[in-house]
Amino acid sequence: MSVKKPYDEAISSGYYKRRSGLIGKYDGVRTFWEDEIIRIFVRPYIERIERKKGRIKVLDIGCGYGDGYELLVNLFDNDKMEYKGFDINENFVEEARRIYKDKKNTSFEVADFSSGLPSLLKEDYDLYFTSYGTLSHNDDEQNILLLGDIADCSDGCFVLCDWLGAYSYEWQSLWGEEWMDYRISYLPGSGGGSFPLRLMTPENILKMVREASSRLKIEKIFDRSVFVGRHIDTAEYNRHCKPVRSAVNSLFEPGVRTNFENLLIDYHPREGFSELNSFFEDFSAHWNSLVACTMDLEEDCNAEIGFPEMKKLEKMVESDMWMDNSNHRENVIEPQLGYALRNLEMRMQRGMGAAHGLLAILSIGQ
Ligand SMILES: C[S@@+](CC[C@H](N)C(=O)[O-])C[C@H]1O[C@@H](n2cnc3c(N)ncnc32)[C@H](O)[C@@H]1O
Repeated sequence: MSVKKPYDEAISSGYYKRRSGLIGKYDGVRTFWEDEIIRIFVRPYIERIERKKGRIKVLDIGCGYGDGYELLVNLFDNDKMEYKGFDINENFVEEARRIYKDKKNTSFEVADFSSGLPSLLKEDYDLYFTSYGTLSHNDDEQNILLLGDIADCSDGCFVLCDWLGAYSYEWQSLWGEEWMDYRISYLPGSGGGSFPLRLMTPENILKMVREASSRLKIEKIFDRSVFVGRHIDTAEYNRHCKPVRSAVNSLFEPGVRTNFENLLIDYHPREGFSELNSFFEDFSAHWNSLVACTMDLEEDCNAEIGFPEMKKLEKMVESDMWMDNSNHRENVIEPQLGYALRNLEMRMQRGMGAAHGLLAILSIGQ
């Protein structure tokens, strides 16, 4: 099946639009967890460009509605960024043009990245940006071509690459496979069709980068969304998954009380993958302690305070330093637990492909 139909279905579901909090493309996890983790990891590189040039020229590859603009514009003044996005789906490009028609520093094109960088876009950018598994649409040869073209075009830049991780708990049944049939079934009214996406390991990235160009250097590889990826909620590829993303969305949602029990992870190991099992077991033990400690703090019990996120949460809860608010559990403590869990993920992830997203920041001539 072509990649266009599933995305068109997602568009017509209405849930592929802006933020909706508990559900949809811009749910709380995308807004306060995933987009924010990308910002935190790319910020130092963007600051290097800004210090050197005072402004930044971005190419968003597979831009959808221009999502990269929203993500990046938070990092600096809007007028310091020149942003171009392209996508193969003309419905996205049309809508992006409509949304950003007043932003003179943006432009959008319909173009295809499966045969390298399209010739109308072969220019020297400071940041070549992809997000949310976009490069998994290509096979390795196609990505080698794309990265090689970028290296040929650029005197100096950073490239943010975003793939699906090969060892996400969401698709534990597929560990060891190179491709998956991906469904956007987490959006109501969508997900009839599937399309192939490449599942990546850090070793695959290393090999691909070496083959693409000797000018490319790997700055960083990291995992994003270990237990909060979209398919944690669907359990379509791993029947042991519970809807933890929904529970984390609820943490971020003002005025909604979360049942903390729904956040607890019951990790089921898969035989033959000892390194991955021990990573997931260790991470889920820390995750569950953080949740349990917040439950205990609520009841004023003496949880054993161990690691940094726990200590911070305890201080925050016990300090009582927030403004009077009858919903302090929902509006103060719960989002803080969400940020603490996010912090835990960023601190413990090892860039193994053990999450929904496996990202790499590459540089040329820096
Ligand atoms: C996972 S979505 C990401 C969309 C957006 N960047 C975001 O952050 O939400 C992948 C995007 O890549 C686009 N795409 C897939 N294959 C493509 C190709 N060969 N050339 C250009 N765009 C493509 C899809 O239409 C889709 O918008």
